[in-house]
Amino acid sequence: MDEGKGNKTDTKNVNETSKKISLNDLEKNDGKSGKNFWILIGDKVYDVSNFKHPGGKSIFKEPGPGADLQEGFDDAGHSKSAIEKMNGMFIGTYSK
Ligand code: HEM
Repeated sequence: MDEGKGNKTDTKNVNETSKKISLNDLEKNDGKSGKNFWILIGDKVYDVSNFKHPGGKSIFKEPGPGADLQEGFDDAGHSKSAIEKMNGMFIGTYSK
């Protein structure tokens, strides 16, 4: 659990030429009542629909669609393997 403490989100491996995702898209995929669940970290969108987050999912839902969860992600001191998992869930770049 302490392994990798202080890691910053590593977004080097993700595809920068990906599709653009709007606030409306995030609202339509807010994880409520069985819907897909997309979250925003920095300016990148991740599909966590099928992911069982060890820190729970309500931590993602609280601020609501369009909220940047970067700070919470960094503060939790995620492991290298958590960051790799996150990169695998990348689906696009947020554009307001
Ligand atoms: C796709 C994005 C994310 C992935 C893949 C992910 C993955 C993980 C994993 C694998 C762990 C277990 C510990 C570790 O390996 O570091 C964890 C723990 C945790 N995560 Fe995330 N996480 C994500 C996003 C977030 C966000 C956005 C927040 C906060 C806003 C957050 C808060 C936490 C907290 C607080 C824990 C500790 C839970 C505990 O030990 O009780 N995570 N996460």
